[in-house]
Amino acid sequence: MSHPIELLKTRRSVKPREMNGPGPSPAELETILTVGARVPDHGKLAPWRFIVFEGDGRVRAGEVIANVFARKEPQAPPDKIDAEKRRLMDAPLVIAVISLMRPHPKIPAWEQELSAGASAMNIITAATALGYGANWLTGWFAYDRDALDGLGLKADERLAGFIHIGTPSRHIEDRPRPALADIVTRF
Ligand SMILES: Cc1cc2nc3c(=O)[nH]c(=O)nc-3n(C[C@H](O)[C@H](O)[C@H](O)COP(=O)(O)O)c2cc1C
Repeated sequence: MSHPIELLKTRRSVKPREMNGPGPSPAELETILTVGARVPDHGKLAPWRFIVFEGDGRVRAGEVIANVFARKEPQAPPDKIDAEKRRLMDAPLVIAVISLMRPHPKIPAWEQELSAGASAMNIITAATALGYGANWLTGWFAYDRDALDGLGLKADERLAGFIHIGTPSRHIEDRPRPALADIVTRF
């Protein structure tokens, strides 16, 4: 296995359509979720939870998403509705990271949201370390209350992202990265 810093320096998102099976084994999935729950978390509030979509769960999630889409876009042609059905179908595993707010006198919502972001990133890093490709995606249905209700989120929960995980079908070229000179200053 490459050195952890190499992994962090070279990690790249993989598009779900460029992923195949196999996905993580049950033991690997448990590792990925364990790492997702091991993040900085002011006040130990655990202001996040995960929903796993695998196998038939991805099909049922697609039905939920496509039904909401068809209701809101009654003119949509069948191929567009089919595309909505396939939203979670490319990668063998999708983990939704849910951000939830624990009312607290000292710990602002912002810090709890950041912890959910850290959780999403840890899931990506763990999946990458196990040799899988991963991608943090949202989409309209990540912000649509009816879609979120159908996927099992409570009214006060928000979707930080869907992390798609699978085996990359090809080598992915890097993309340009910001120059440190543009983003780093010294005080
Ligand atoms: C909160 C969040 C939501 C995102 N949603 C999408 C999305 O819906 N579609 C998309 O193409 N990229 C989305 N991205 C970007 C990808 O996750 C990824 O950053 C991008 O493909 C660049 O890949 P890299 O990880 O190799 O830098 C999102 C990123 C974040 C942090």
